[in-house]
Formats: sequence, structure tokens, C-alpha cells
Amino acid sequence: MIATGAFSNVYDDDERAEAYAGLEFPGTYWLAFRDIPALIESHVRGNRALDFGCGTGRSTRFLRDLGFAVTGVDIAASMLERAHLIDPQGDYRLVPDGELPGLEPGSFDLVFSAFTFDNIPDLGKKVSILAALQRLLAPNGRILNLVSSPDIYLNEWASFSTKDFPENSEAVDGDTVRIVMLDVADRRPVDDVLCTEGAYLSAFDGADLVLLEVHQPLGRPEEPFAWVSETSISPWVIHVLAARRGQDAG
Ligand SMILES: C[S@@+](CC[C@H](N)C(=O)[O-])C[C@H]1O[C@@H](n2cnc3c(N)ncnc32)[C@H](O)[C@@H]1O
Repeated sequence: MIATGAFSNVYDDDERAEAYAGLEFPGTYWLAFRDIPALIESHVRGNRALDFGCGTGRSTRFLRDLGFAVTGVDIAASMLERAHLIDPQGDYRLVPDGELPGLEPGSFDLVFSAFTFDNIPDLGKKVSILAALQRLLAPNGRILNLVSSPDIYLNEWASFSTKDFPENSEAVDGDTVRIVMLDVADRRPVDDVLCTEGAYLSAFDGADLVLLEVHQPLGRPEEPFAWVSETSISPWVIHVLAARRGQDAG
């Protein structure tokens, strides 16, 4: 059966946060981040970044290692607690769900979001958050939105399993889908929200964002991972977005 009721953020949980804190970039996660530096190189100018949904700070530190001055924001106190412990000098901030207080409009060259929109329940909320992120972009700023492809919930992967959740194949936009992370001891399924590419495109339009590129990384046989479906099906979708106002101004 597909769950369609109230959705709760599975990351606001001490045990999950502890597992995530030790995760870094194994297998399928490595594939998610592999091409980010090249995408940034071709689309982003400037070094001020916001990491929206920074969790325990893995993605924040990834951006900092690329030379960005990064602010990480998240709604889960348990995740941020670990981020502060791992990286006491980092700028990590707790924000209320759906709000981004204290951030200057037009002040970020890059807004990065890794897996965060997998956990944002309905399309209306996605649109309002994307619109808020859009307003934070500097002229010529870019959003990189890394999300799970609907295919991730239907296949087996080096780092994930979905075989215990055949009901995922019945899910439509907005339904809860389940997946187990294989790289951590915590094998409780993660609840995500299915969002198809068509729904993302309509959310981007509603948030006055223009899609510049879509990238779906595939694993390569020579890479040092025991790829399962990764060489033939991409588990990830990376959207590169600009504010429509920036595009109109040329
Ligand atoms: C899968 S984790 C990814 C964390 C990090 N980006 C990484 O790659 O390691 C998703 C994070 O998004 C956060 N999140 C979900 N909804 C959010 C919202 N409305 N605003 C900010 N963060 C949110 C969750 O609390 C969780 O920490």
C-alpha cells in the first residue's frame, strides 16, 4: 500500500543523524557527487554558497573543499548537532520548515541542495521553497538541485536496496516511497516523496526558475565500486537552474 498521509522528516532522529554523520561518499553517493565539480565549473561564477538541507554537513564540506564560503541550513536539529561536532568552525544554521530567515536576498552565487527535495512533501511546498531559494540568488547565481530519480526506488544499487518495497512501483507524484541505505548500520527504511521530472519542471516554472541543464550520472565499469544498476540506469538527477529575472536581463 502507498502511504499518502502526513509526511515526517526521517532525518530528525538521533540514530539516523549518527548514521549519516559517518557516511561520507561511498558507492552510489560517490556517483551523486562525481560530476558536481565539473557542473560548477561550467555554470557558477563566484564563491558564496548556500547548502540547503545540509544535514550533518557532508555536502557543505564538499563545497568548502571546492573553494566556496558556505552557509549550511537544515530543519533537523539532530543533524546540525553532528555537523557542529564534526566541523566546529563551519557555519551551520537551524531554520524553521519552509523558511529561510536571516539570509540576504541576492547574496549567493550558488544554492546547492543535495537530496533535500526528496524529503519535501507536496508540490506547493516545493514551489514556495524554490521561490525563496531563487530570491537568494545573486545576479547570474545558480541553483544545483541534486535529487533521486524515480528509478532509484525501483532497482537495486551498490548503496541502496528497494526490493522489500514492491509498492514503490505503484507510487505517483507526492506518494511516500521507501528505500534502505546499505552503507550504514541503521537499516530502517528511509521515507522519501516521489517526484517525477514533470512535477519538478512545473515546480521550477512556478518558482520563476529556468532549467539550464539536466544531468544524470551513470557509473563506469572501470570505477572502483561494485555497481549494480548504476552503469545502465542513473539513480540521480541534477538540475542546474537560474532565476528567470537573470535570464531576462541577459
Ligand atoms: C538526505 S539528507 C542530505 C544531507 C546533505 N545534503 C548531504 O548530502 O549529506 C536531507 C536533509 O534535508 C533536510 N531537510 C528536509 N526538508 C528540509 C527543509 N524544508 N528545509 C531545510 N532542510 C530540510 C533534512 O533534515 C536532511 O538533513
